Order: sequence, then C-alpha cells, then structure tokens
Amino acid sequence: MIVTVGGIKGGSGKTTVATNLAVIRSKVKDLLLIDADDQETATDFTILRNSERESGAGYTSIRLSGSAVRTETKRLKDKYEDILIDTGGRDTASQRAALSVTDVLLVPFVPRSFDVWTLEKVSELGAELARILLAKVII
Ligand SMILES: Nc1ncnc2c1ncn2[C@@H]1O[C@H](COP(=O)(O)OP(=O)(O)OP(=O)(O)O)[C@@H](O)[C@H]1O
Ligand SMILES: [Mg+2]
Repeated sequence: MIVTVGGIKGGSGKTTVATNLAVIRSKVKDLLLIDADDQETATDFTILRNSERESGAGYTSIRLSGSAVRTETKRLKDKYEDILIDTGGRDTASQRAALSVTDVLLVPFVPRSFDVWTLEKVSELGAELARILLAKVII
C-alpha cells in the first residue's frame, strides 16, 4: 500500500506523522519511506535513527523530487509491502507526483480555521488529479 502524508499547510505535522508511522509499520512490514520534501527532515530523522540504533532505522529511506516521485514509486511498489511518502507543505510537483500514485492520502491539520480552510483546496487538488488520471485511462 502507498500512503502519502500531504496537504498544503506548512508545519501541520506531516513529517511527524510520516516518521512515526514508518517506525510503527516497519515492525510488521517491509517499508520504504520516501522523503519528497526538499527540507529533508524525514531523511535527517532516518540518518539519526540509523546512527543511534544498533539494529538501524528498521526501514529503507530514499530522497526523491519532482516527477521522480511518481516514476520511482511505481518502480519500487512491488518491492516493498508499504511505501510512505512525506511531502512538503505546498502544492509542488513532488506532491502532485505522489498523489498521482498513492492509494491513501493522509492530511494532518491543526484544528484552527485557517488550517481547516486549506482542506477544500487539497480536495480540489485531488479532484483535479483524478480527472487527469481518468483522462489518461480514456486516451
Ligand atoms: N501532534 C503534535 N503535537 C504537538 N506538536 C507537534 C505535533 N505534531 C508535530 N508537532 C510539532 O510541530 C512542528 C512541525 O511538525 P512537522 O515538521 O512534522 O510538520 P510538517 O507538516 O512536516 O512541516 P513542513 O510543512 O515544514 O514539512 C514540529 O516542531 C513538531 O515537533
Ligand atoms: Mg515536513
């Protein structure tokens, strides 16, 4: 299963959710964590976890950007039981690429009005991508 942690609000807890889920799920699944955020916080977390634990991070982690998020995820999806993608807090090519291949989108948000308002935009983004994907299937 491919799970993307996304949204277009910065600092909402995406990387916290993605890294925590990676640690928890990797106890029972062969898991790949894809860091699709240029800030590379998930990658830094994994480097730290690898250096601090004798048994390592417990999962594989790679850093991808732009359209490579789509192409590489598609190539790797049968090699792992679970793929988790952490995206940046903006509508980027990387996030769109992740949404185009994901099974599930998790959108953490702080329950404050300005943050909740962005959910409608995320929903529009999903609908837009769904239309594009449908168009591709028809062609
Ligand atoms: N559930 C939580 N409760 C309290 N603090 C939290 C929680 N989740 C995340 N934080 C804190 O909020 C800050 C932002 O979290 P995080 O980096 O995970 O957000 P992000 O959505 O990945 O940000 P960005 O959009 O910059 O990638 C961090 O300092 C993190 O420790
Ligand atoms: Mg982040």
